[in-house]
Amino acid sequence: MRYLIAGNWKMNGSTASARDLAAAIAAQHAGAKADVVLCPPAPLLAAVGATLAGSTIRLGAQDCHFNEKGAHTGDISAWLLLDLGCTHVIVGHSERRADHGETDGQVKAKATAAMKAGLIPIVCVGETEAQREKGETAAVIARQVRGSLPDGASPETVVIAYEPVWAIGTGKTATTADIAAVHGQIQQLCGPKPPRILYGGSVKGSNAAAILATPGVSGALVGGASLDAADFWRIVEACPPVSA
Ligand code: PGA
Repeated sequence: MRYLIAGNWKMNGSTASARDLAAAIAAQHAGAKADVVLCPPAPLLAAVGATLAGSTIRLGAQDCHFNEKGAHTGDISAWLLLDLGCTHVIVGHSERRADHGETDGQVKAKATAAMKAGLIPIVCVGETEAQREKGETAAVIARQVRGSLPDGASPETVVIAYEPVWAIGTGKTATTADIAAVHGQIQQLCGPKPPRILYGGSVKGSNAAAILATPGVSGALVGGASLDAADFWRIVEACPPVSA
């Protein structure tokens, strides 16, 4: 399966800047070495989707609600995201877990709704610095993977992102040995046909090649560096060739 590079723009940009960024990224899409998905803030999805039309770059959202519709002020359903042209949605990002108290059960419900709607959920897991220092990484990852993944997750229907919380936006990255260990653990937890597992946390053009060549890594979830078209594209270009 091809690598997947997902850009998580978080709460950044305006209609004008998002169009410019999407256009600059889409301009380089021909012959891309990986699948690419851009996840702008929800109010910018339509503008970015229109800018990406005609390119191979996909549109993703940063969160969804677990219900199809109803009295959920301010929330957005996976079905509406599909209607807006999304193919992917990030669920369970550590910033959602921290800022909004999202539990594994809620993340699983969101991922399940996304699958039902026909979207591919990018389900995020990752330990905090304190958990790593206490030697709890494997236990935290096992609990989050078991609790957050939708039933029947397969390589075609789900993507997992391993993002050590202490590596997000900090410039620190896990060592490739640590990344390989956690990705290997997640693969084992998922059984014989594990979904693609992205690594996330301060991935940028200069460190992408080493991270993407690490066993068990099949792409990256990129925050800060995804706001710079040139650096983001260096990450896409760093994907190793995949045999069919
Ligand atoms: P970062 O963010 O690349 O800025 O560390 C990654 C993420 O939060 O998805």
